Amino acid sequence: MNMSRKPIIAANWKMNKTRSESVSLASAITSLLGPYSAAEVVLCPPFVNIESVGRCLSDSILKIGAQNMHFDSAGAFTGEISPKMLKDIHCSYVILGHSERRSLFGESHHFINQKVKAALCHGLIPILCVGETITERENNQTFSVISEQLEKGLQEVLPLLQNRDIVLAYEPIWAIGTGKVATPEEAQEVHAFIRSQLALLLNQDYAPKIRIQYGGSVKSDNIATLLSQPDIDGALVGGASLEADSFVRLLKNVPIPATVFSGEPLRPTLF
Ligand code: 13P
Repeated sequence: MNMSRKPIIAANWKMNKTRSESVSLASAITSLLGPYSAAEVVLCPPFVNIESVGRCLSDSILKIGAQNMHFDSAGAFTGEISPKMLKDIHCSYVILGHSERRSLFGESHHFINQKVKAALCHGLIPILCVGETITERENNQTFSVISEQLEKGLQEVLPLLQNRDIVLAYEPIWAIGTGKVATPEEAQEVHAFIRSQLALLLNQDYAPKIRIQYGGSVKSDNIATLLSQPDIDGALVGGASLEADSFVRLLKNVPIPATVFSGEPLRPTLF
């Protein structure tokens, strides 16, 4: 975590929770968390629950995001959801290129790149996920895999970034839902590499400003040590975000930076 980047914690509920369960979970999170958080917090429920959850977040500091989307605004794409539809229900963020989308639904680099560009064009902040499998890590291919995911995922993105934000998420596939978290040092090594690639693929000015989340078995007891690393700026949380107590405990363990944004003196941030 770096003082100039506000930490961002996003809850990826994946295909869990009915509408009433989603609303109860979101309400419990907001009431347990209270009006302040050291991090920007985003809840990403399943599509059909976004609007109901968003409504119950309207007086809170939490933001709402989606777990995926199509790149086109409208058309004959049975079963898909467009960026325009997400904006219409007040989504701020959208997770793109999650490893489950890449491996289970065959999403290509090119498809993900089109979505990243569409999200930016529609005023949504993409959370672009990258990460390697255990075999790739064991074969020393981590950096080459991530470099390809970044290069292809971020093609033609630079001109769209004027005054717009993008978030990266490093999710080693072997750490997702396995309880096997990367050590803070292992994660930091990849985050620093991602930032160096962002400087090459985007530009030197943007790279230090872009937040890079870590994802994969993040819990209340490992969040603080992960965030103590200089290039880890938040987390994309699966399992631990499905229960209000565990998620709020995690949020409360996010260290409060001595300064937030442009050297302002310490004070809790109210969104
Ligand atoms: P877990 O936190 O359950 O490991 O899931 C991580 C993830 O895939 C978030 O997108």
